[in-house]
Amino acid sequence: MTPDTPRIALVTGGMGGLGEAICVKLAALGYTVVTTHSPGNAKVNEWLDVMKQHGHAFRAFPCDVADFDSCAACVATVVKEIGPVEVLVNNAGITRDMTFKKMDKASWDAVMKTNLDSCFNMTKQVCDAMADRGWGRIINISSVNGQKGAFGQTNYSAAKAGMHGFTKALALEVARKGVTVNTISPGYIGTKMVMAIPQEVLDSKIIPQIPMGRLGKPDEVAGLVAYLASQEAAFLTGANIAINGGQHMF
Ligand code: CAA
Ligand code: NAP
Repeated sequence: MTPDTPRIALVTGGMGGLGEAICVKLAALGYTVVTTHSPGNAKVNEWLDVMKQHGHAFRAFPCDVADFDSCAACVATVVKEIGPVEVLVNNAGITRDMTFKKMDKASWDAVMKTNLDSCFNMTKQVCDAMADRGWGRIINISSVNGQKGAFGQTNYSAAKAGMHGFTKALALEVARKGVTVNTISPGYIGTKMVMAIPQEVLDSKIIPQIPMGRLGKPDEVAGLVAYLASQEAAFLTGANIAINGGQHMF
């Protein structure tokens, strides 16, 4: 899965649980890895230092993925300082879980902007140049809950389902240009997003729905990202790949 030529991969939200595993995996395979972080993230240098101790010289740039102009400025800086983005992983995302009865407009908007508008905001900055160069990979991190719905997640499930509509339409448009566009739909993975679920709900409602009886590991999703980014995956586009321990089969 090592790229034939050194390639530049941009991973949004690389300092989160899944994003970090994706950055580390791609770096181990020889990619030059760049990540983004929220403009308010106070732990950027600490994270970069820890990564450096593990041998990873990552570059990180502030970017609010919910804001188009912020994404444009971020990618322009990446291209100028590092080079063209050849692999984009739209990974940054949030939850604002509440029943629909309690769902307020701000929680709806925040999730739609961060999880769905972000795909437009980031992909728009890199897609034409990928097509012009005749090679590119766009990998959108959706969720099992975009496929099956989830209690307390009308906003999140809608945004994550929307990501795959975006994937399929864009995949058609760039299929002849050497650019693939795919969705990965992870099930419940042991990151801080999942640890925010009340333990009682996790134990009584969620884990029992997973035939493997455990949460997924970030590394397991990162391996799939690496495959989709690779040359071997050149014929795979417009797909929604589930990785969920058997929780949802379709
Ligand atoms: N399935 C069925 N029933 C559920 C449920 C679930 N997943 N979660 C809660 N309920 C039920 C409760 O048992 C409770 O039932 P009773 O009234 O009969 O006792 C009722 O719903 C109300 O529950 P709460 O008291 O918890 O209500 P709340 O308003 O305080 O909280 C909630 C509701 C925010 C949805 C909270 O239950 C919760 O956080 N649930 C987990 C939501 C979830 O799974 N989020 C996934 C986050 S991880 C992620 O999103 C990553 C990914 O992509 C997989
Ligand atoms: P996480 O640990 O909470 O990480 C989320 C990341 O998103 C953080 O790095 C955060 O950046 C970034 N982010 C949030 N809002 C942002 C914004 N406005 N602009 C820029 N970056 C922003 O969550 P995770 O579990 O790794 O989730 C990563 C992705 O996988 C999400 O899209 C999530 O929906 C999806 N997913 C997760 C699971 C799971 O079970 N964990 C399952 C299916 C899908 P900062 O750290 O800089 O704030």
